[in-house]
Amino acid sequence: MSVLSQRPANAIVGQEMPHEAANLHVTGAALYTDDLVGRTAGTLHAYPVRAEVAHGMVTKLDVTPAYDVPGVVRVLTGDDVPGVNDAGVKHDEPLFPTEVMFYGHAVAWVLAEDLEAARKGAAAVVLEVDPLPALITVTEAIEAESFQGARPTLERGDLDAGFEQADHVFEGVFEFAGQEHFYLETHCSFALVDENGQVFVQCSTQHPTETQDIVSHVLGVHAHEVTVQCLRMGGGFGGKEMQPHGFAAIAAIGAKLTGRPVRLRLNRNQDITMSGKRHGFHASWKVGFTAEGKIVALDATLTADGGWSLDLSEPVLARALCHVDNAYWVPNIKVAGRIAKSNKTSQTAFRGFGGPQGMLVMEDILGRVAPKLGIPAHELRRKNFYTAGQTTPYGQEVRHPERIASCWNQVWRDGQLDRRMAEVEDFNAAHPYRKRGLAITPVKFGISFNFVSFNQAGALVHIYKDGSVLINHGGAEMGQGLHTKMLQVAATTLGVPLDRVRLAPTRTDKVPNTSATAASSGADLNGGAVKDACEQILARLEKVKADATEELGWDDLVRKAYLDRVQLWAAGYYRTEGLSWDASIVQGNPFKYFAFGAAATEVEVDGFTGAYATRRVDIVHDVGDSLSPLIDIGQIEGGFVQGAGWLTLEDLRWDTSDRPSRGRLATQAASTYKLPSFSEMPAQFNVQLLQDAHEDGAVYGSKAVGEPPLMLAFSVREALRQAAAAFGPEGTSVDLAGPATPEAVFWAVEAARANAG
Ligand code: MTE
Ligand code: MOS
Repeated sequence: MSVLSQRPANAIVGQEMPHEAANLHVTGAALYTDDLVGRTAGTLHAYPVRAEVAHGMVTKLDVTPAYDVPGVVRVLTGDDVPGVNDAGVKHDEPLFPTEVMFYGHAVAWVLAEDLEAARKGAAAVVLEVDPLPALITVTEAIEAESFQGARPTLERGDLDAGFEQADHVFEGVFEFAGQEHFYLETHCSFALVDENGQVFVQCSTQHPTETQDIVSHVLGVHAHEVTVQCLRMGGGFGGKEMQPHGFAAIAAIGAKLTGRPVRLRLNRNQDITMSGKRHGFHASWKVGFTAEGKIVALDATLTADGGWSLDLSEPVLARALCHVDNAYWVPNIKVAGRIAKSNKTSQTAFRGFGGPQGMLVMEDILGRVAPKLGIPAHELRRKNFYTAGQTTPYGQEVRHPERIASCWNQVWRDGQLDRRMAEVEDFNAAHPYRKRGLAITPVKFGISFNFVSFNQAGALVHIYKDGSVLINHGGAEMGQGLHTKMLQVAATTLGVPLDRVRLAPTRTDKVPNTSATAASSGADLNGGAVKDACEQILARLEKVKADATEELGWDDLVRKAYLDRVQLWAAGYYRTEGLSWDASIVQGNPFKYFAFGAAATEVEVDGFTGAYATRRVDIVHDVGDSLSPLIDIGQIEGGFVQGAGWLTLEDLRWDTSDRPSRGRLATQAASTYKLPSFSEMPAQFNVQLLQDAHEDGAVYGSKAVGEPPLMLAFSVREALRQAAAAFGPEGTSVDLAGPATPEAVFWAVEAARANAG
């Protein structure tokens, strides 16, 4: 067992404990970025001037009328940018655009004494835009050959030979929707400038270092002139990995120019219509199976709908390609990837980061073809699982593939699937207008950033003379419990009680050059760094202990170390070893390990309306040796529900008409965008962690948990498909829209019925 993964007796990691800020969350005492505004006098409020056209050239921008509005202090335009007028790491995102690229694109920002004055000021600005043709849907973009960025192809084996071996070949097309993050806390930045010109930006960001980088570029200053702090986020889900930077830059320019604190917080409508979402995809595929149901060939093209700029679309697409296989061995495969450029918000990271989209294509294929092959869907899935020694199409060995089957078998056993599948059949035979479906699906998800350089982290650990400990690390807290886990790691490594350890807010002047808290690797990376820092200090304390004439408790040992002039603080560092990735040929060993899981879901569908209820969900998920079991179970439940929302409820509708409102997002509030709520929760929800799942070489034997459980929700979609199929004759194959909203399920039921003749 590696030193990193070895766990001492009575370790604090592995113990069940509530989220470190649970009390603050539930009492409302937890501070988020915007709560700091009320504590600072003289703050200016920012409001955007937005174009109401999906695409066009700005022909007139007259800001002078805004200054007639009482309270307006300053209007920011492109002329005010001291550095580079760009908010994207790909340099394709003008912060103040002259070409409007999506409906609601902000072209200027008004700063005023209060928000209402800023809003009135924005309304007074004269903006004229000459409209240009706009591409709204991914199919429009494909037809117009409007693409952006790299076009990678994943390839292995011999496709022709594969199809030669196939007894059955199927083809299909599947276009499915993206997803709005709908974090509770909308985008927010709060910028101050001190007497030296040092810029301090408090920001709801998953990537403080990149926020710092972009703010520096835009201001035309070095990184050391900008500090970014993130207290905590009210959810990020990937939506705050890249998207906060431009907003932070606006606040920072405002603070620089006026010398006053500037607050920029989007309201819900602004947030939903201005910030990027999960990529919707278009997939076309051809797949070959043997008579026994073994996959022998897959030829597919995946088109990610990137929106107006690249943002993270390239790595999102790479992860989609790396996950089309999901848990299945596909000997001959070719998957071409491309990114559509359309006149929408710039789509971005969202829990799973393209992985869910790739896997959905495969799960959709299996769900559709199983009836055509005459093989139950669960059998078809089961017989294609990876086995020992097999590699993924991008050339990485699948270590511990037996855990896919372990999770699956445990779900099967504890969920009593044999009995319940028979009951579902009986129910369906007895009920002409209501049908049930019970489906089980697996998850295999690669952990680490595909971009190898991001797999590093830092930490700063201080031990004060009184023996109390303060830790700082590069990761950001967004509700996922990273801070809780880091406290547990520090207490475990130092061997002190948890209440001796405190955690300070994430800031770029404490730990520099951090990676985004993303790719589920927050605990792996920062945990490694915190542990390293603690171990450095421990090694020094060991010497002090050895020199001591009597047995010393922690406090006395620390006190003696201080008096002996022994350094009581350390900077820790961690990098994930053994990774490699060549994005140009989509080959390498991009992942430290795979996270596994399986879920079974039972639904009941009403044949008159398509309305459905989730009767029961059983999950077994592999988190290695859990660092914090309550946190992990929370992540599994939350991830599953968020996935179910994406696949079955949440429906982003853009106006595709030729009216002037073309390109406007019609679903821009919780009233029209249906999120999962209590009434959609499974009536029975059983979540178990896979036992004896130690992950050698990861911090205290644990595995990442943030994203993989989202994809357990494929079981909901597949259960709906099976229930809809049950309205038709035996062997009915159902095409289900993505999302499978009640309306979509109704049409699937109608199609199944039509199949009966
Ligand atoms: N859980 C909560 N409560 N809020 C969030 O914003 N983000 C998810 C996941 N779980 C998120 C969450 C995403 S997209 C990722 S990548 C991981 O948490 C990031 O945190 P980690 O790396 O510490 O797991
Ligand atoms: Mo998560 S999509 O990697 O922030």
